[in-house]
Amino acid sequence: MADNVEIDPAGLSMVAMYDLLSRLVVPRPIALVSSLSAAGVPNLAPFSFFMVGGANPASLVFCPVRASGGRKKDTLANIEETGEYVIHLVDRAMTDAMNATSASLPPEASEWGPSGFTPVSSTVVAPKRVAESPVAFEMKLFQIVHHGDGDGAATYVIGEVVQAHVRVDVWNSGDVRPLQPISRLGGSGYLDLQAVELFELDRPSS
Ligand SMILES: Cc1cc2nc3c(=O)[nH]c(=O)nc-3n(C[C@H](O)[C@H](O)[C@H](O)COP(=O)(O)O)c2cc1C
Repeated sequence: MADNVEIDPAGLSMVAMYDLLSRLVVPRPIALVSSLSAAGVPNLAPFSFFMVGGANPASLVFCPVRASGGRKKDTLANIEETGEYVIHLVDRAMTDAMNATSASLPPEASEWGPSGFTPVSSTVVAPKRVAESPVAFEMKLFQIVHHGDGDGAATYVIGEVVQAHVRVDVWNSGDVRPLQPISRLGGSGYLDLQAVELFELDRPSS
């Protein structure tokens, strides 16, 4: 049997644990989240701690971790205030603009301008959506679950899809390629799905 390094999480710093988890739990899809503060300031930010929860109802979860001093990120504060947001999938062409939205700006400043993304009205929710994204999910908050407190603590933002926008070529294709998704690895690493081997595997029949 292969040798393992045995790790008691209690013996690792938060930074080392963050590094371990984000380097090993890969690849992660990226949710580009549009939200609006109660004061009306629009916000955009990317989150790769993100996944599907279920389909009845359509449910997505993402996790804005607590920043230094346990500060809530603007996205979380906005969703707590308004209960509405838009989750976009990120393709290769959106990479640089998506990255620009991760700049840490004060709550009264918007990431839309520096990103260059084009805002368009959503159908059901108040926050605008990104025209350049191949897939956008308009979301209403279901529940926020806090796990821990202080730097690096988890917050699970669970939401219900109330409207989806899927670019026609992506909708019409049975293949992932038109979506051209990028995924997050550890550190500053990314994966371009176009560049890797894809394979299929049928589930065992019961
Ligand atoms: C590709 C990418 C993925 C990210 N994923 C996360 C994440 O899952 N959770 C998180 O808290 N921050 C994540 N970040 C950092 C946030 O985007 C960053 O803290 C941002 O400033 C938060 O913005 P806000 O305060 O306007 O909400 C990620 C950044 C990038 C570039």
